Amino acid sequence: MSKFIGVLTSGGDCPGLNAAIRGLVRAGQNQYDMQFVGFLDGFRGMAQDRTLELNRKTLSGILVDGGTILGTSRDTPARTREMTDEIVATYNRHHLDALVCLGGDGTHKNAMRLKEAGLNVVTMPKTIDNDIACTDVTFGFNTALGIATEAIDRLHSTATSHHRVMVVEIMGNSAGWLTLGAGIAGGADVILLPEIPYDVDMISAAIKRRARAGKRFSIVAVAEGAITKEDAKVVAELKKQLAATEGEQERDQLEEKIRRLEGARVGHSVKLTQEIEEVTGQESRLTILGHLQRGGTPSSFDRLLATRLGTACARMIHEEKFGNMVAVKGQEIVPVAIEEVANTTNRVPVDHAWVETARLVGTSFGDQ
Ligand code: F6P
Repeated sequence: MSKFIGVLTSGGDCPGLNAAIRGLVRAGQNQYDMQFVGFLDGFRGMAQDRTLELNRKTLSGILVDGGTILGTSRDTPARTREMTDEIVATYNRHHLDALVCLGGDGTHKNAMRLKEAGLNVVTMPKTIDNDIACTDVTFGFNTALGIATEAIDRLHSTATSHHRVMVVEIMGNSAGWLTLGAGIAGGADVILLPEIPYDVDMISAAIKRRARAGKRFSIVAVAEGAITKEDAKVVAELKKQLAATEGEQERDQLEEKIRRLEGARVGHSVKLTQEIEEVTGQESRLTILGHLQRGGTPSSFDRLLATRLGTACARMIHEEKFGNMVAVKGQEIVPVAIEEVANTTNRVPVDHAWVETARLVGTSFGDQ
């Protein structure tokens, strides 16, 4: 008997989403007699029942395209009962057997809510941040890693000509995988991550050491969520207070204070660049890579990974293993319960092998 499957993409886009949709739909149609309907613009579009037919014509040529043919949004049904009810109604109206959500950490929280509401939900892990728990890797990460590494390579020549400190801000609001990977691959001299709080004086000491050794330029790769040691202490205290606070208004105020100090903050790298210039006395410039890292065609690695995950997802639905994410574990693709994924963030362990590697080649994390 044919199965009817709904598909949506949610949260920030990333390269590989289209390849994953293509893998899912092709395998589902060719191998398992499935029929698919796409919902536009994430959970919002599903609540409003806005659809795109997923057929030969709409799938044609999308393997190499960045973005998502379905569109996306950052709406959060997990926060509103009303949207959850509308999504359930759409699911029933289309007589769906399953709903596939391609997304990151926010999407997994929403998917969990829909699972609790009784839908057969399955998910695929996408994000350039590589911060989804229970999977070795997410698609989108490898492409962004290539873009950020190339940016560092390009900054090297101009940094050398002008004897400047070039600060490059790389995406990653709570996990520093992209900055760490690109920083190592591009040979950054200083890498600043959300997981390892920094001190500007330590950064300055590293840059001055290089100057004494005759290196008149430095590259600082900073994650958008990197945090100073001082702010990290304040955030830890605020989080303690938050855990002990019940009043909604007081909680909102505390959360707002935390938001101003951690995660992606406008102007944080501008301030850091100015401070580096002041303490080192060396001319400094900032480049913010921003959404360039999310755009364009996926790398071959991400096309391959997304196609594997998409086809594995079709099989998982065929086998009726609902309520799971398709995860990469070594060479295997395995199901992992959505609730396990939804409540954890995959942050860089401070003793991770990549951190050790960077330290061994003399990279400073601004912490010692
Ligand atoms: O989660 C992916 C990501 O690109 C983060 O690295 C970044 O902080 C965030 O999304 C930016 O979101 P938006 O596109 O909504 O500005």
